[in-house]
Amino acid sequence: MPLLSVEDLHTYYGEAHILQGVSLRLDEGEVVTLIGRNGAGKTTTLRSIMGIARPSRGRVTLRGDDLTRRPPHEISRRGIAWVPEERRILPNLTVLDNLRLGLRGAGHPDGATAFDEVFDYFPRLRERAQQRGRFLSGGEQQMLAIARGLVARPSVMLVDEPTEGLAPLVVRDLTEILARINARGTALLLVEQTLEVALALSHRLYVMDQGRIQFEGTPEQLRKDPTIQQRFLEV
Ligand SMILES: Nc1ncnc2c1ncn2[C@@H]1O[C@H](COP(=O)(O)OP(=O)(O)OP(=O)(O)O)[C@@H](O)[C@H]1O
Ligand SMILES: [Mg+2]
Repeated sequence: MPLLSVEDLHTYYGEAHILQGVSLRLDEGEVVTLIGRNGAGKTTTLRSIMGIARPSRGRVTLRGDDLTRRPPHEISRRGIAWVPEERRILPNLTVLDNLRLGLRGAGHPDGATAFDEVFDYFPRLRERAQQRGRFLSGGEQQMLAIARGLVARPSVMLVDEPTEGLAPLVVRDLTEILARINARGTALLLVEQTLEVALALSHRLYVMDQGRIQFEGTPEQLRKDPTIQQRFLEV
């Protein structure tokens, strides 16, 4: 049984038929990346899994349990964390208070241990624990957004464009940290526009265009497929 399964999802924004039958799966231990042009429907897919966008058709299951159209707070309580593309950290709260928000509704009491774990990944955040969010760099804000998702100890993390707008060195750090998070047992469904990052991190990739999955395969298979790259990834 897949850890997370998405079957034939259709999602509309008003009259616009955005997701036109998206199916994908994420297995225990995997990093899977959704890649594709602007407007392809990547974020809408994550929002539909999270219950923030409401699919009109299709199914989302976690270890076989149907989560379709359940409210977002329930979906996060069941073990899916969402790190949105806009890195919505709270600028007036400290790093620690931002992390405490990640514990809300997670149904596990031991904040101190969870914080220690995330500070292990992000030592920089430990140093800055008392700083307000707005004084963090872009890279640190992204790290905080990921850390806030992690404190709930999700089995699946959905991470939308974690490297967007960050300097190459920060991208490299973040790529390494995401790989470590995965190696310690969290399955990741990423949206990533940088092909090299996606290829380096993923066990499998899905290429999306116009609300449909156009390709599924391993990094090896995608590397060897210039047609898919040219048609859907503008390389
Ligand atoms: N709230 C909304 N209301 C109406 N249309 C929307 C809304 N959000 C997104 N769309 C449209 O839905 C389509 C898919 O958008 P989505 O954000 O899922 O794409 P994306 O693949 O994440 O793109 P990007 O790479 O730019 O983040 C686009 O045509 C977009 O204009
Ligand atoms: Mg997006």
